[in-house]
Amino acid sequence: MDDFHRRAGALHAEGVPLAAIAEAVGTPVYVYSKATLVGHFRRLREAWGDVNPCIRYAVKANGNLAILSVLAREGAGFDVVSAGEILRVIAAGGDPAKIDFAGVGKTRAEIEYALKVGIDTFNVESEAELDLIDRVARERGTTAAVALRVNPDVDPRTHTYITTGRKENKFGLDFARARSIAETVSERAGVRLTGLHVHIGSQMTEVEPYVEMVRRLVAFAKDLQGFHPALEELNVGGGFGIHYKENEAPSMEAFARPVVPLLKESGFLIHMEPGRLLVGNAGILVTRLLFEKQSGEKRFLICDAAMNDLLRPALYGAYHRVEPVKPREGEHTDGDVVGPVCESGDFLAKDRALPPMESGDLLAVRSAGAYAFVMASNYNARPRPAEVLVDGDRFGVVRTRETLDDLVRGETTAPDWKSENS
Ligand code: LLP
Repeated sequence: MDDFHRRAGALHAEGVPLAAIAEAVGTPVYVYSKATLVGHFRRLREAWGDVNPCIRYAVKANGNLAILSVLAREGAGFDVVSAGEILRVIAAGGDPAKIDFAGVGKTRAEIEYALKVGIDTFNVESEAELDLIDRVARERGTTAAVALRVNPDVDPRTHTYITTGRKENKFGLDFARARSIAETVSERAGVRLTGLHVHIGSQMTEVEPYVEMVRRLVAFAKDLQGFHPALEELNVGGGFGIHYKENEAPSMEAFARPVVPLLKESGFLIHMEPGRLLVGNAGILVTRLLFEKQSGEKRFLICDAAMNDLLRPALYGAYHRVEPVKPREGEHTDGDVVGPVCESGDFLAKDRALPPMESGDLLAVRSAGAYAFVMASNYNARPRPAEVLVDGDRFGVVRTRETLDDLVRGETTAPDWKSENS
């Protein structure tokens, strides 16, 4: 499933010992495996081969330019949610004509930028947004291709914070509203309705809600096609779960198998936008043990990575496997792996059986390729970690560690004061 493995006991990324990277680059450091990333992309393309989908990688999962560049060279397009993500795709050599632009709150400036660079499709989430895209496109003397994001009211049975396709979530349009928009959309000179889009949630570990979502989408699309023959694309979203513990997620093939025949039969051009599935298990966070302490019965392993570097455990109670990069002999005892941030919510793992360790030992936090560095912050005035890409037996820094000077860039104690009357 991934290319992190042990050789003579020591954890490696492909052919490179993680200890060598930590030595050269310092810690905490995110390490990505190119082979895993490419392997996942090709396997997904194969699993969905019968519908030859346009795979639009969800940049929000990991927007590092090196990751985007690897995927662009594999032929991927990109799903973005901001002008910043469009800029990243272009900076990495991605093709703007293979970008789908999603999100409930696109600004006028972002819409203008997207039209200027020539993205593929806007995924539209409200009538007000459609009005704005229509207006901006007409001002620029162009038409924008749009897909309506429908909210199919299907429960993906995942964490509530990452559920997006139920009627109480802010995302998408219900079927009735989407239908009434489709009925009048041809009156708008600035937009062409070419498709429909759905995405019901992230880290789905059951196939059945996904299949139900696709069924509802296809039925609705066929209904619309009755009076809107220009409808030609279905974007079936992302959200495919990955293994954080072991074997909790269905395989890529298990998600593809029941829906691919249905989609093929529908005759629509298929877009999809997975993020975590491609990068989640292609990344790892390496951190160094600073101190260990015992507090009553409790064992704490205090590391140099914290919630500001990897927020998922604190925010979602997410489970990430943690293992010593080079295990020591001895009896395993339970401990909490925590960081230096001043919050009790600052933990990477709780109650994990770990061997005896010494200050300076390295720990690897697994499945940290998605929603990890991208959600890092400077909380507690901590510089964000470095990112490294491994390719076979070589590695390279693809984002340098922030410095202390980076932390105060843009700030001043002497602002250029303005008042309302000046
Ligand atoms: N498409 C849309 C419209 C999305 O909102 C998302 C994710 C994706 C695609 C990609 O989903 P994926 O295939 O990666 O599951 N920070 C959370 C996850 C937030 C997901 C947001 N939307 C986490 O750490 O679990």
